[in-house]
Amino acid sequence: MGSIMKFFSASLGVKCNFCHVRGTEGQNNFDFASDKIDHKLIARDMFKMTNKINKKYFREHKDANKIAGLTCYSCHNGQENPATRPPAPAPRTPGQQQPPQPPAQPAQQLSTAQSQ
Ligand code: HEC
Ligand code: HEC
Repeated sequence: MGSIMKFFSASLGVKCNFCHVRGTEGQNNFDFASDKIDHKLIARDMFKMTNKINKKYFREHKDANKIAGLTCYSCHNGQENPATRPPAPAPRTPGQQQPPQPPAQPAQQLSTAQSQ
């Protein structure tokens, strides 16, 4: 359970208290069994969803290629809420260096290939 919980936390970039309420004394800081925080309920659904997707769409691929398949981190990438769009390109300020150009070689190879 501990390593799964650390994985949840790291995947979302949060601490245990994002999903777990503080416990009373004698409960060792947290009342882990409590379902008072909505995030925990969502996390439980997310866990089921992730497992279902893996079973349905990744099973053969996982077995054949020994990959982890879909995980919390695949979508969350360290964020509470996964990004819904790619980041905008960084604005270019005057005097800034041009972004690195792609190497010339592949293009040359391409044109030789075409002229042959
Ligand atoms: C994103 C939400 C989330 C985070 C963050 C999280 N947990 Fe959990 N935790 C859950 C869910 C959901 C369950 C219930 C799993 C289930 O249904 O069996 C759970 C269950 C547990 C349990 C078992 C409780 C029981 O019912 O006996 C322990 C212990 C626990 N978590 C510890 C931790 C610790 C320690 C951390 C921080 C490293 C942590 N959790 C971070 C969602 C989270
Ligand atoms: C297929 C992509 C995907 C995977 C895999 C996934 N999530 Fe999510 N999760 C989302 C999306 C999208 C949202 C945001 C929903 C929204 O904005 O309403 C979300 C929201 C959440 C939230 C609510 C966050 C908040 O701020 O309220 C929690 C908690 C969460 N996910 C936990 C998990 C955990 C734990 C796992 C792994 C067991 C997981 N998710 C795997 C897509 C995913």
